[in-house]
Amino acid sequence: MTDQNRIECLLLSQEALLQSGCLDMRMAMGAAEAVMLAIREGKVLFPEKIVQIFNDQTQERINCLPATLLPEKICGVKWVSVFPANPEKFGTQNLSAVIVLSEIEQGFPIAFMDGTLCSNMRVAAMGGIAAKHFARQDSKSIGFIGAGEQAKMHLIAMKTVIPSLEECRISAKFDHEEKQFIDELTPLFPNMRFVAAGTDARKAMEDSDILVTATSAQAPLLKAAWMKPGAFYSHIGGWEDEYGVAKQCDKIVCDDWETVKHRTQTISRMYKDGQLADDDIHANLVEVIAGEKSGRESAEERIYFNAVGLAYVDVAIAYAAYQRAKEAGMGQTIDIQETMIFQHEKLADWIRM
Ligand SMILES: NC(=O)c1ccc[n+]([C@@H]2O[C@H](COP(=O)([O-])OP(=O)(O)OC[C@H]3O[C@@H](n4cnc5c(N)ncnc54)[C@H](O)[C@@H]3O)[C@@H](O)[C@H]2O)c1
Repeated sequence: MTDQNRIECLLLSQEALLQSGCLDMRMAMGAAEAVMLAIREGKVLFPEKIVQIFNDQTQERINCLPATLLPEKICGVKWVSVFPANPEKFGTQNLSAVIVLSEIEQGFPIAFMDGTLCSNMRVAAMGGIAAKHFARQDSKSIGFIGAGEQAKMHLIAMKTVIPSLEECRISAKFDHEEKQFIDELTPLFPNMRFVAAGTDARKAMEDSDILVTATSAQAPLLKAAWMKPGAFYSHIGGWEDEYGVAKQCDKIVCDDWETVKHRTQTISRMYKDGQLADDDIHANLVEVIAGEKSGRESAEERIYFNAVGLAYVDVAIAYAAYQRAKEAGMGQTIDIQETMIFQHEKLADWIRM
């Protein structure tokens, strides 16, 4: 007989998620689009995140980001650490995350899962949705500054929505990172022509149809002169481009401008410096998804996209991944408790007083 007080939870490692087919950008973009529309209808609870910064200089931090999907009756939290020095210092990843999902009938946890995959997929999915509406659909080349984990995932999203991409130019701080990027992505895209730019950002960006900056730098790396007419730019990191880039763009689009403007992104800095006003923002992505604002309107437009991350989207993607993994019978069921504390028969033996 199952004890009604037993709490079971599905443990999903990154490998279990991958083997269940969760690295699926269409699944992630679908979940992201649906939840962005849902929050406008009051169907999502999204409280303030909690931030703990351990080093002001390096910005090493662990953030706690909860959200509830009301119609799905799912409450989740992403516990994410960002340690920008990790790759150079330890050869390990910058960002790592775990996600906990709970049902909200009884409030019990249902999943404890890797969150790095869903988090990185969310970043890329937002870029992918933006590219679907704002990149030229005949784009052939994509250039990157930054060859880390976000850049890699971004290539998957961009190739998903713009299948005509055939050349990927990659620049990073170090040659070995460009090589690693190419070594890891070539098996996924055997027909793509990869070009290592030898740490020369200009070589990667100039003349590219799609530009992506995904760096841990805080510097104006991307120059306005390198962004040709018709190009689409996805900005992922903090301060990565000179002000002239946004200034020359015909459209600036955000995941959520009200959130972006209070952060430390290039366009947030421009806003604080009085160089950019609310009216300069063409749209939040959801307005384009809902058909209220236009996407690309001419082949010559330069378009700038900046997302800082909306954690309810992570929770929506995580829930989609959980469902897929559960259906595939993946993961490991673990007991959080077998019964309630005072119903354990051996409690008298276990207690310390
Ligand atoms: N917008 C979002 O929603 C979101 C979400 C997650 C992460 N991020 C940010 O995205 C950025 C990249 O994250 P990641 O996980 O890929 O990090 P990562 O450490 O894996 O990669 C960082 C890359 O930046 C490059 N870089 C650093 N300084 C450089 C310089 N001066 N010139 C050229 N390249 C330089 C490094 O060579 C490396 O390839 C970080 O700033 C992170 O905080 C944004």
